[in-house]
Amino acid sequence: MADVLVLGGTGTTGRRVVAGLRAAGVTARAATRKPDAPGEVRFDWTDRSTHAGALRGVAAVYLLAPIGEASPAVLVEPFLADALDAGVRRVVLLSSSAVTEDTPGLGALQRLVRAAPEWAVLRPSWFMQNFTGEHLVAQGVRDGEIVTATGDARVAFVDAGDIAAVAVRALTDPEPHNTEHVLTGPAALSYAEAAAIVAAHLGRPVRHRAVGRAEFAEHVTASGTPAEFARVLAALDEDIRRGAEDRVTTDVEQVTGRPARSFETFVQEEIR
Ligand SMILES: NC(=O)c1ccc[n+]([C@@H]2O[C@H](COP(=O)([O-])OP(=O)(O)OC[C@H]3O[C@@H](n4cnc5c(N)ncnc54)[C@H](OP(=O)(O)O)[C@@H]3O)[C@@H](O)[C@H]2O)c1
Repeated sequence: MADVLVLGGTGTTGRRVVAGLRAAGVTARAATRKPDAPGEVRFDWTDRSTHAGALRGVAAVYLLAPIGEASPAVLVEPFLADALDAGVRRVVLLSSSAVTEDTPGLGALQRLVRAAPEWAVLRPSWFMQNFTGEHLVAQGVRDGEIVTATGDARVAFVDAGDIAAVAVRALTDPEPHNTEHVLTGPAALSYAEAAAIVAAHLGRPVRHRAVGRAEFAEHVTASGTPAEFARVLAALDEDIRRGAEDRVTTDVEQVTGRPARSFETFVQEEIR
């Protein structure tokens, strides 16, 4: 099979997609703005001169949209046109459980991707990996207090490794999926329940503080996030508070043949 181009190939899902493709014997090209390792290719959404080289000889693309763009279709539409012209047949879009075709901005990408001859749209719930690394929730774990505007509503956190495993199947299965997959973990948890699992594992207090939407937006802005994006994140928390993420799907198991990783296993294996 020809190469697969993995956009966001150095990120949370992309580097796992690259690893999964290579383990399956597929040549994966990891797109990054700063390539410094074999198998990486320079790609910058904002520099179209990098697109043709990244697409040369590529049969399928894992498409992670430009992050933080209010109208990502402005960049994605010409890229997709170039990709199809260059011979790409299959496109797998990383979207979000919170995004439907009708969502302003990101929703347009789902419509664009359906125009590819072969396609899949991945709509994961919130990542378990938000509890590690640089994410605000991970900072909350370090501080002993996770702040959200989700109240006591639940989220079916999903493992980035499971998202990547579904992506690898969607990119390589002989039959194109030509559908969307809503991806969740095996159980929905409130942030208070998740914090209790993390606390028990670390052996120190980690609590959840539920705040209102405006206070949460201020909290996010104080961490260095632009105010406009903080308001978007606060609105997503509000949706969670209303129950939008309190559902479990079986898509991970249906696509990969193995059950989705539990939050408890993730915590034991990835939180130090
Ligand atoms: N976190 C969640 O709970 C959650 C839930 C559902 C959906 N999502 C969606 O997941 C996506 C993020 O995916 P992720 O977590 O896998 O990524 P990530 O870890 O945030 O990594 C971002 C990637 O984008 C690349 N990148 C940044 N700016 C770029 C540019 N101008 N041109 C080309 N590449 C650029 C980075 O590569 P370099 O820095 O190497 O260039 C990096 O590989 C978002 O669209 C978000 O909406 C997240």
